[in-house]
Amino acid sequence: MTNHQINQIEPKITKKDINSINTYLKKDNWITENKFTLEFENRFKKYTGSKYAVAFPNGTLTLLGILKSLNLKKNSKVIIPNITMVATATSVKLAGFNPIFADVEKKYLCMCPTDLEKKVKQKNVKAVIYVTLNGRSGNLEKIKKICKKYKIYLIEDSAHSIGSFLKNKHHGNFGIASSFSFSMPKIITTGQGGMIVTNSKKIYKKLKLIKNFGRAQAGNDDYISEGYNFKFTDIQAILGISQLEDITARVKKKKYIFNYYHKYLKKIKKINFLEFKKNETPWFIDIYVDDKNNLKSHLKKNNILTRDIYPPLNKLKFLSNEREKLPISKNYSDKGLWLPSSLNLSKKNLDYIINCIKEFYEN
Ligand SMILES: Cc1ncc(COP(=O)(O)O)c(C=O)c1O
Repeated sequence: MTNHQINQIEPKITKKDINSINTYLKKDNWITENKFTLEFENRFKKYTGSKYAVAFPNGTLTLLGILKSLNLKKNSKVIIPNITMVATATSVKLAGFNPIFADVEKKYLCMCPTDLEKKVKQKNVKAVIYVTLNGRSGNLEKIKKICKKYKIYLIEDSAHSIGSFLKNKHHGNFGIASSFSFSMPKIITTGQGGMIVTNSKKIYKKLKLIKNFGRAQAGNDDYISEGYNFKFTDIQAILGISQLEDITARVKKKKYIFNYYHKYLKKIKKINFLEFKKNETPWFIDIYVDDKNNLKSHLKKNNILTRDIYPPLNKLKFLSNEREKLPISKNYSDKGLWLPSSLNLSKKNLDYIINCIKEFYEN
């Protein structure tokens, strides 16, 4: 038994990160959004290979910002996958639209193209938010084709997707715009934080206005259009820049953690893993088991914390009145468990967790 608790996730903040913040505070202390936010945006768009990047306070307001930038009509509907973090849905509500839930695919837990094609024909469907859940691409290219066929916007929610590529293109470059999150559990974190990437100059310009009270420039009161305060801070940008410099190592460690669990647990027939393709980066280590609650309590007794995968969103009363049966999301949500996935996990921690899981299945 380990005497310290192994969290399901914790941030990795290095000495270099801390030194960067200290240096910044000593030299250049505007704190609010300024030249380092611009630098972070520039480095992020270079990393994702996108034309434009705009920093936002978090990965919920990024989705709201994108939806606002599209000027959709009042009663528009937006199709989202039924398994995702609730923010994908609540951002649609916050923008004043109705979310419609599509089932996910067994193999990847991303939106199912067949279910999308059924629902896209409904009146007033104007956009899809496709979530590359846990860094998996799923059938993103098929989804893109469907969106093109029905002339609706494809928005990517890439909150989990830093370090994930589809055919050498980083996630976030397949639709009109894409949202990333830098909240505490993410591969790089600024505490809270978000980024929108887009290859459309028009959308980029709108987003810049939306985040800055509708002003073309900060520090004046020339309001060109409706806007809000969705600005970032330079102190967060300093942290983001420092972590982005280490992105290769962070991505490598996530892949190592997944491969390590997989190598030692794949022989247990009662544990199912979903596959990752070569250029995809696992964010959380997800397993699918029938006896999830018992496994969870066994691990908890041994000081190991896990987390349930998201509930099917169409069951949440505040999001939807429809009670359509979406069997794949229900089934995989019931079984899905996220194992400890922190970048700080040592080999010793991993061996300990793996042994505890084996012990559960062997007894
Ligand atoms: C898929 C997904 N979308 C959106 C969000 C919201 O991001 P944030 O917490 O930065 O608002 C999250 C948060 O984890 C998420 O997992």
